[in-house]
Amino acid sequence: MDIGYSVEQLRVAATDAVRAPSLHNVQPWRFRLRDGGIEILVDPARRLPATDPSGWGARVAAGAALFNLRLALAVAGNPATVRLRPYPAEPDVVARLVPDVPRRPTPTEQNLYAAIPRRFSNRAPFWPDPVPADARWRLGDAARAEHCWLELVIGVSAVNAFAEIAHGANRVLERDPAYRAERQAWIRREYALDGVPAAAGGPRAEPQDLLPARGFGDRYRPPGRDFEPEPLVAVLGSTGNTAVDQVVAGQALQRVLLTATDCGLSVSMLSQPVEVPSAREQLRVSLGRFGTPQMVMRIGYGQPGWPTPRRDVDEVLDLPVHQM
Ligand SMILES: Cc1cc2nc3c(=O)[nH]c(=O)nc-3n(C[C@H](O)[C@H](O)[C@H](O)COP(=O)(O)O)c2cc1C
Repeated sequence: MDIGYSVEQLRVAATDAVRAPSLHNVQPWRFRLRDGGIEILVDPARRLPATDPSGWGARVAAGAALFNLRLALAVAGNPATVRLRPYPAEPDVVARLVPDVPRRPTPTEQNLYAAIPRRFSNRAPFWPDPVPADARWRLGDAARAEHCWLELVIGVSAVNAFAEIAHGANRVLERDPAYRAERQAWIRREYALDGVPAAAGGPRAEPQDLLPARGFGDRYRPPGRDFEPEPLVAVLGSTGNTAVDQVVAGQALQRVLLTATDCGLSVSMLSQPVEVPSAREQLRVSLGRFGTPQMVMRIGYGQPGWPTPRRDVDEVLDLPVHQM
């Protein structure tokens, strides 16, 4: 199949792709059509130099957007063959998608696709109800389907040990004024098309909190609405930690997040222990896993919330002038 994708197919799929999560909601991606292939790029203008100096977060976010792209194309009956980092001389090009043999979408693809507009980061306390075994299995399966692993941190002492690693990492990050300034700069108190809306930031941190929140929220919580005492913490990991592995991890992340949404679960991400190399290694050793932790998630049953805004799709498409 070498007919190629059209501009309209790109625009429709990119509209779903931009619903992906990203550090501070910077939306560090661009999309283009080249020789009939859809290409997704990391946008160098949207890097976070203090929070994400290596570009890890941007590649994970682009991987998540890539997963949505794949789903959108598959559900439209035009699935893609994907090549990751196709041009060594252009490392910002994360992936190239060319049409595969047309086929009907699978029920799983349809369910995950339907979850795209419903998914959002829920940073509020969850209900204490445990996540049932079949949902846990589906989450692990979602990570495996995208060549990653998902380790659930089970038991009070394991969760406490994880919390210690996460707080240590958070303290390291918080010591850096440039990191703090970058976070503040991406909190939005008025409606905006990027950044983290203050209302989505979760409650202000309190000393009794088991896990360190990123510090987007400044609202005091109502009395009695503390975080769940035994959160389900899940660590997503990849086999290696090359730029390609990080894009693979982003796809797995999005598959896990959409699977959680499809199961009626809420998720918030906390990546501080992944961003501090010593904490990341401690986390890996504590799990007894080979490979590299790429994301940590808190998973449970949350209150309803709202998806956060995104920039208009036409702002992230690079099209030849005559095709716009
Ligand atoms: C690589 C990566 C790291 C993230 N780290 C955190 C984090 O540490 N704390 C947090 O609250 N959200 C984190 N997020 C979630 C983003 O803040 C969130 O996706 C973004 O604000 C858009 O909101 P949405 O997920 O509701 O669409 C992370 C997301 C990505 C992709």
